[in-house]
Amino acid sequence: DRPKILGISGSLRAGSFSTAVLEALQSALADKAELTVFRLNDVEMYNQDEDTQTPPAGAAALRAAIAAADGVILASPEYNYGTSGAMKNAIDWGSRPYGKGALRGKPALVLTSSPGSTGGIRAQAQVRETLSAAGCRVIDYPHLAIPNVADKVKDGAFTDEKTQGFVVGGVDALLKEIHLLAHAKAHA
Ligand code: FNR
Repeated sequence: DRPKILGISGSLRAGSFSTAVLEALQSALADKAELTVFRLNDVEMYNQDEDTQTPPAGAAALRAAIAAADGVILASPEYNYGTSGAMKNAIDWGSRPYGKGALRGKPALVLTSSPGSTGGIRAQAQVRETLSAAGCRVIDYPHLAIPNVADKVKDGAFTDEKTQGFVVGGVDALLKEIHLLAHAKAHA
């Protein structure tokens, strides 16, 4: 069985590069893993008053999708030197209930991209820090940042082998962590 990976896009816009990178990865991974792309357009703003046994539908769907995945890839744009509000909001939903959030113990790979030349590295650092508070198993290496992303993806595919190899290498590290975790659980 191929590992199930959930790719969460931190951008809501239709023409998002963050979403496009996840879609390009879907085909680049071929039979290595099953990657599902999750868009955050229907996820409500986190409100602790609504975080009850029956949370709002969009947030519940996000939590269920994270719980069903063996690992997650968070594809974030960089907004004002940080992550997008949508991505931060998704991590907040995924981190709760306290100690039992869907993200807890979940292998997670962080991928940032930007049409600019810094590849969203400040968003990368911020997402990683927030994920560690959520108890994720964040992949330490590599940090996937794609600069000049407008030239790197087109028509659902990566335009150059180097970028594709870099990103797939990151997914390989995620798959290795998923494998190690499954092994540890089987022998616990
Ligand atoms: C940006 N953009 C941006 N880019 C960057 O490299 N560093 C930054 O700090 C910012 N800040 C920023 C703030 C806001 C509010 C917007 C709308 C945009 C540009 C951003 O990288 C670009 O719009 C991307 O295309 C957004 O990601 P998606 O939607 O393509 O996934």
